[in-house]
Amino acid sequence: MRKLLAAVCLYTMLVWQPSVGQTLGIASAPNPRISVRSGIYDPSLDAKVEALLHKMTLEEKVGQLAQYSAGQPTGPGTGRTDYEDMIAKGQIGALFNISTAKETNAYQRIAVEKSRLHIPIVFGLDVINGFRTEFPIPLGLASSWDPLLVEHVTRIAAREASASGIRWTFSPMVDIARDARWGRMAEGAGEDPFLGSEMAAAYVRGYQGSRLDTPDSIAACAKHYVGYGAAEGGRDYNTTEISEHTLRQFYLPPFHAAVNAGAATIMSAFNAINGVPASANPFTLQQVLRKEWGFRGVVDSDWEAVGELIPHGIANDGLTAVRKGFLAGVDMDMTSSLYHDHLAQLVRLGQIPQVRLDESVRRVLRLKFALGLFDRPYTDETHEAEAMLRPEAISLARTAAERSFVLLKNSPGPNNTPILPISNDVHDIALIGPLADDPPNTESLAKLDRNEDLISFRAALSKHVGEQHLFRIRGADITGGTDEDQAAAVAAAGKADVVVLALGEDTAMSGEAASRSKLGLPGRQQELLEKVVATGKPVVLILFSGRPLTLPWAFEHVPAVLAAWFPGIQAGPALVRTLFGESNPSGKLVVSWPRSVGQEPLYYNALSTGRPIDNTDPTKPPSDDKYLSRYIDELNSPQFPFGYGLSYTSLRYGATELSRVQLKASSLNAMLNARGVREIALTASAEVTNTGSRTAEEVVQVYVRLQGTSVAQPVRALKGFRRITLAPGETKKVAFDLGPDAFAMWNDRNLFAAEPAKVSIWISPDSAHGTAGAVEIVP
Ligand code: BGC
Repeated sequence: MRKLLAAVCLYTMLVWQPSVGQTLGIASAPNPRISVRSGIYDPSLDAKVEALLHKMTLEEKVGQLAQYSAGQPTGPGTGRTDYEDMIAKGQIGALFNISTAKETNAYQRIAVEKSRLHIPIVFGLDVINGFRTEFPIPLGLASSWDPLLVEHVTRIAAREASASGIRWTFSPMVDIARDARWGRMAEGAGEDPFLGSEMAAAYVRGYQGSRLDTPDSIAACAKHYVGYGAAEGGRDYNTTEISEHTLRQFYLPPFHAAVNAGAATIMSAFNAINGVPASANPFTLQQVLRKEWGFRGVVDSDWEAVGELIPHGIANDGLTAVRKGFLAGVDMDMTSSLYHDHLAQLVRLGQIPQVRLDESVRRVLRLKFALGLFDRPYTDETHEAEAMLRPEAISLARTAAERSFVLLKNSPGPNNTPILPISNDVHDIALIGPLADDPPNTESLAKLDRNEDLISFRAALSKHVGEQHLFRIRGADITGGTDEDQAAAVAAAGKADVVVLALGEDTAMSGEAASRSKLGLPGRQQELLEKVVATGKPVVLILFSGRPLTLPWAFEHVPAVLAAWFPGIQAGPALVRTLFGESNPSGKLVVSWPRSVGQEPLYYNALSTGRPIDNTDPTKPPSDDKYLSRYIDELNSPQFPFGYGLSYTSLRYGATELSRVQLKASSLNAMLNARGVREIALTASAEVTNTGSRTAEEVVQVYVRLQGTSVAQPVRALKGFRRITLAPGETKKVAFDLGPDAFAMWNDRNLFAAEPAKVSIWISPDSAHGTAGAVEIVP
């Protein structure tokens, strides 16, 4: 399995990046990197699509482009509700937010049996971190740095969802997130475009399987295209200002990776980019997505995003909103009803060319043919239940949770040894905090939660240590609590050998429409934490959250802290195995962990300034020199850097060795433009040694910095990573074959190319450590 992972990493490292040819102004060409397995690129579907299109009336064509929510709404308003009648008239192409085979079949029967052309409906849902088997939230899954794990997780999600008739998921969210105030950071893979691209492709491969038309495959939807994570101030739905250069270098790559992996659909975002809403943006939707990348799938708007062009201020009525959204490239209208109301009229008026309408309808029909819906429109209700929560799914949920945990701190406690793993000599444990046994708050972001599936932390811990040895006191609610609650917690702590605190946010505090201006512990939890630590007992803090929380006091005073995110239905067993050392934490941060909110947006792959500070020693106080780019009251460095995570063993990294001291820009560019598998430009390697006494799973990372280029480049940029296993005392030489992409950049003409530069390369355990090797790129 590890060999396969290495091969997948190497393949994607060498293959997926854009080429110089895919630049502004170059017309759409078939994308050689898109695999035909996704089905939507399969030319044999074209004849079927054309034959059907030919029979359709204008109204039936518009119907295929209308999508409605038929269950619990996941946005404002609910749109129309007269679905039966509309379906019978061929006025609906897709429905979402229903989740059982009985419901999907009932609607499908109307479409297939009562509508004139018998075109099946495609049913969608936000299958974000699993369907019935809920896995860790995407931010946690990404913290595993394990794309193969993600592929397995999403394969299971596809099997379960399709057993209920869901053949389309609105996932993965591949938005780059640099600001922890933005609640939707929880739904993505963090701040890095390289890791984000690896994860994006893994999600797509898992959902779509080896063929889209097998009944257990579901179409992926990479969202929210694009720049949604750059919302100003971290406030959801807010506007964004992103230069073309930044867009291409940071925000577009994960979408491009999803497209190259064969993603069948893309969702256009809510936000405006430089004043033009993403759901009416011809540059991103036409120029980049269709012309440069050759995407042939469906672009679906986000919830009401076409209607929202009016409050955005670029349309004063529905007719204009439809004209702008549709002509910019939005094929399907999610919930706003405006395509239903105005599209036919606009075509009749000649304001929308018939050929453009036909092109969008073709894409929707092609998706349905590719999914095999015309041959198998119904779902077998008798097999639905048995597809859910299968033993292998539950066991994967536990493994995924274990790999998602990030050990942030593990210092010696009062008895001078690291508190974690908890020793078997410990008899009595006090379990304090509001997040240990509260299913709706600790499980996941799934919108159709089934709480009975969760094994809570409390239940698992109680089973492990015995009910009589577990003193369970909540001590506080998430946002409140009383003095008496706190006093009871302090008393329980006093009686215990070890205190485990389960603190943090609840799931409603992250995800959509859950931006926060404060990132500390909500309510009275900080007060509770301080009182419990004051007892002098060894304390382990388990943080539940959908983002990093600013807890400088805790990181100074609590000896052991584990970031658990929201771990899914196996939260309890995974946490207990980790606390007692049956599983050794191996997750690493995919977002820079801030010290205070004022540092946000905070990301490691930032540009330098003309007045940089020496950021190499995070413990160093701010320099005495006043005129530097820094805060007068805070360090520049994060609390914990991107890529950081401890384990129960210790590791030593040797120097970074490089196979060459010089590279030629002209050869690198020739390699970039060559078709087929990328050549290796340089091999970087380093020895990694397990200096501790436990077997380690370590995520080894490789970073590059280019200096002296036409456009300033990040102080470090991730270019590869690998998960390795090291026995105690073992040393492994870890080598990364870097392709030309690792040394190329979006230049001052917005072309992706290599330039003469001074290059530093680090093989390191995170983005802030390691010794650099040097190489020069000459013309
Ligand atoms: C969200 C999308 C989601 C859609 C459908 C919107 O509010 O932004 O991410 O897929 O609702 O539930």
